[in-house]
Amino acid sequence: MQVFGVDIGGSGVKGAPVDLETGALTAERLRIPTPQPSTPSAVASVIAEIVSAHRWDGPVGVTIPGVVRNGVVETAANIDSGWVGLDAETMLSESLDLPVTVLNDADAAGLAEARFGAAEGVDGAVILLTFGTGIGSAYLYDGRLIPNTELGHLIFKGQKAEHYAAGRLVKRGELEIDWWASRVDELLDYIEELFWPDLFVFGGGISKRFETYSHLLTTRAPVVPAVLRNQAGIVGAAFAASIGARHE
Ligand code: BGC
Repeated sequence: MQVFGVDIGGSGVKGAPVDLETGALTAERLRIPTPQPSTPSAVASVIAEIVSAHRWDGPVGVTIPGVVRNGVVETAANIDSGWVGLDAETMLSESLDLPVTVLNDADAAGLAEARFGAAEGVDGAVILLTFGTGIGSAYLYDGRLIPNTELGHLIFKGQKAEHYAAGRLVKRGELEIDWWASRVDELLDYIEELFWPDLFVFGGGISKRFETYSHLLTTRAPVVPAVLRNQAGIVGAAFAASIGARHE
């Protein structure tokens, strides 16, 4: 079975069809820069462009970089505030004229890693953190997702954790990767004190460079990079659409 996955990020909207047996993309991933401002109608047009470029006419899963409950977007830290309060699932289903499932981006990555990646078959508590424009989190227990955790919004060192240690600080050249990794290590220690996870999984663009900074991470729980790297959002969105994330 194939489902189309779309990942809305701070800098790009990416999409591809996904084979749900293997978690692999079955056609080339298309990426269009996120419109600025990233209003719901502007982003919906970009999604329509990506979906129609693949001549797709089946179910679609879409990630949003904010809290999503029952298809309604509740927060928008790194996307236009016009999304807040919007039933994005209904809006996108109508604009694409296809069945759409919407969920948080880090939750999608967590589902994908639990099904096909670094957290596959892992019992106990797994915390996946995505380091990109913001910091996203997914909390899994025995492979089951507890949705909408927002660990990037923990107040740490007097500011939001995602301002202290986001991956974008490295991408924009504001922080050397070693300095960034030691900030992340401090943050992980704090999260570990609160949640005592059995495993941390790192996702987002910066997980591609995991080997260059992993020696700076000192938590009790092992830390591993996401296997699906920055495709986890697309794969997780498709997977969520296939199982109906609303009811997870
Ligand atoms: C949002 C989260 C999101 C994360 C990564 C945060 O600012 O509040 O919902 O998962 O950014 O995009």
